[in-house]
Amino acid sequence: MPDRSNVHQYLIDQAEHLMGGSPGAFKLPPELAIVIDHGAGSKVFDVDGNEYIDYLLGSGPMLIGHAHPRVVQAVQEQAAKGSTFYTLTRPAIELAERLVDAIPCAESVKYVSTGTEATFHAMRIARTYTGKPKILKFEGGFHGVNDYSMMSAMAPKQTEYPKPIPDSAGIPGQIEADVLVSRWNDTELTEQILRDFGDQIAAVICEPLQRALIPAPGFLQSLRELTEKYGVLLVFDEIVTGFRLAYGGAQEKYGVVPDLATYGKAIAGGYPLAAVAGRRDIIDVTRSERRGVAPLAHLGGTMNGNPLASSAGLATLDVLAEDGVYEKLYSTAEQLKAGLHSIAESAGQQIQIAGEGPVFQVFFTTEAPADYPAVLKTDRPKGREFGLNLIREGLFLNPGEKFYISLAHDDEDVERTLKAAQAAMAQVVEPAHAP
Ligand SMILES: Cc1ncc(COP(=O)(O)O)c(C=O)c1O
Repeated sequence: MPDRSNVHQYLIDQAEHLMGGSPGAFKLPPELAIVIDHGAGSKVFDVDGNEYIDYLLGSGPMLIGHAHPRVVQAVQEQAAKGSTFYTLTRPAIELAERLVDAIPCAESVKYVSTGTEATFHAMRIARTYTGKPKILKFEGGFHGVNDYSMMSAMAPKQTEYPKPIPDSAGIPGQIEADVLVSRWNDTELTEQILRDFGDQIAAVICEPLQRALIPAPGFLQSLRELTEKYGVLLVFDEIVTGFRLAYGGAQEKYGVVPDLATYGKAIAGGYPLAAVAGRRDIIDVTRSERRGVAPLAHLGGTMNGNPLASSAGLATLDVLAEDGVYEKLYSTAEQLKAGLHSIAESAGQQIQIAGEGPVFQVFFTTEAPADYPAVLKTDRPKGREFGLNLIREGLFLNPGEKFYISLAHDDEDVERTLKAAQAAMAQVVEPAHAP
């Protein structure tokens, strides 16, 4: 880790003093904190000019790389025309067309600004459409930080299904009572909960790739069948997987079409925009002309469909629609995974790499985890230590969590990354200890 300049240290101290050390929840240990000055392609640069190969990608949005010239140009052109209007704009309408063309379940789209709002509204829409109060989610599934989503997403222990463990203080007990939790990849338990509570459940929401845990063969298909059987809507949270696992997201990759799906991150090319997409008859419960006439799921927001973000999204989707894009994303990820496996083997470390294509996670464990309790049993301190070591070696990432691969990562990045990984792995100490 290079020494920090006085200015860099001052900024880090100010951040600690003024904003708890981070703009949100992602916070590195003080000695590894980095203040970013800019990004370009697969790299980010700190305020001292040090370069890092970036596997955080802004927590996912920068799928085609930082400051892509086509995105920058689109945003500059729109910025010169004005940045927000709270009404219809051409970029927002054109982006909706693009989303409906690409997404199997999408006939209609509503915009919001963040993924947290998108899942919040998808659940509100489902409750309005079905007239039922409860939501069924999966242990370890992350759907943002609204009160309904922050249930058994990151609990320190296994959930006693179906009763959730709140992930935050300050969530009203009434909300907790309306969220049920099942185990990822467990069809039997999920059916049992649907059998017991189906008449009260509005929707089953899942990440079709849950963090980095792939769905077991047939699991998503069985969710589709079971939700139909029990009159419950199926919501895919595609905020990570959308346009990343394939142009048509997880729905295309896994061949299962939900009723509703939520989008964010990549669809706005690094600007704040997210969306709920899905069947028209369901999304129609948000039509404002229903007020006073029929049940209305109110959906609004000052920045919804923001034209700067929509322009960035359109430019990003233009790039993603080009030939060979997904082959490149997958092959870069495969090279990295193969290299990491052989580095671990030489170092005598047992690892499993979970994930799908350009999103993966390294677990220190002998068996590939299939669900959250299995993730809890992996050597997570070791995973975090490996990640922290990678930062010391010149990578930028969320230590112990997912790697995000962009279209900008190239062979040289892979080579440098594997060299860094070799050094980082060699410094993973036995027995594992938390940093
Ligand atoms: C699957 C998933 N859903 C929802 C969210 C929340 O999105 P946002 O951070 O834009 O609120 C995230 C964020 O990481 C996510 O990964």
